[in-house]
Amino acid sequence: MATTPRAHDDLEAILSQVAVDDGAATHTIASDFDATFTWNYAKGERPALDKLYEKAKTSQWNGATDLDWSTEVDPERTAVELSRNDRRMQYVRSLVDEPGSPVRSWGEREITRYAMENTAHRVSQFLHGEQGALICTARIVETVPWIDAKYYASTQVLDEARHVEVFGRYLDEKLETRYPMNAHLGALIDDVLSDSRWDITYLGMQILIEGLALAAFGTIYRTSSEPLLRQLIRYVMSDEARHVAFGVLSLQEAYAELSGPELRERQEFVYEGSLRMRDRFLHQEVWERLGVSARAIVPYFIRQNRDEEILFQRMLFAKIVPNCKKLGLLDPRTPWLRERFTEMGVLEYEDFVDTSVEYTELNAIEQERSTTEAAVGQ
Ligand SMILES: [Fe+2]
Ligand SMILES: [Fe+2]
Repeated sequence: MATTPRAHDDLEAILSQVAVDDGAATHTIASDFDATFTWNYAKGERPALDKLYEKAKTSQWNGATDLDWSTEVDPERTAVELSRNDRRMQYVRSLVDEPGSPVRSWGEREITRYAMENTAHRVSQFLHGEQGALICTARIVETVPWIDAKYYASTQVLDEARHVEVFGRYLDEKLETRYPMNAHLGALIDDVLSDSRWDITYLGMQILIEGLALAAFGTIYRTSSEPLLRQLIRYVMSDEARHVAFGVLSLQEAYAELSGPELRERQEFVYEGSLRMRDRFLHQEVWERLGVSARAIVPYFIRQNRDEEILFQRMLFAKIVPNCKKLGLLDPRTPWLRERFTEMGVLEYEDFVDTSVEYTELNAIEQERSTTEAAVGQ
């Protein structure tokens, strides 16, 4: 674990992480962790986790039959619509007018292509992130010492399999292209999986990656009118809200016991992970595919981060920051992470609603069931 944090706008550190598609069919992460049995089978000793488990069992959906895969999707229309209110897209347009910028020669055709590649990149990262979640949660089943958490994690494993299935199918059948895993996201998942401490799996996946995904899904749901994508995202989001709640509820108990130095290690992990999550939005792979050098364009986006405080990217921390606060990681006695989040411009979210309560509002299956019941009752 780094003792001196890297500066959040260190260009070389950002560019040194590059996604390489070397044609390998698999990626292996070596790890050394304890698989733990518990002999305490008393269900419900942790009532909040037990409630989550009961909720998960009645909130299942089937990606093969509950989504209308016959929906015709126009990838260009879908991408243009998704980019309409995107500050990044507005910024790219402004760079077209800026002398010396790497996209100075771009016209409408290139901008549309950029929107399409951007969309494919976003959905591809969801796909790979979902597989990361599948693997991490299977790990939690083995490592967490509480029966209520093992029960709940087992339901999340099935949720994640379904998420991988539906994002993979959407990419293959509707967008017909796919990107490899972004290097920043991949490095974070590698860090999470190579760590032997069970709480770090939760902290990296349930709090950071899923917290950010929940915010990103919300943006897509609000922006897109493509019916298949909207329904898919709605179902996935209602699962993800439970997953983030699972992380908050489990770590809250575990972190109440930690010493100052142990908490500091977790704070540093959150900071490094947050930078990696943010840097993946620089979309290095997209620029390379469009023939624009990442080294030439990335400094413009770092400048934009600094000057404009991009709402979209900051909003992605709307779940992570309040959840970290709930875990005691923004504790005023150990202000280290509070200072880092201040530098990143995301501390304003500390009092947003945390996800340990929000999942009940996002339950798509429950909402559909009550609508159907109301219709039958009329
Ligand atoms: Fe997921
Ligand atoms: Fe998840």
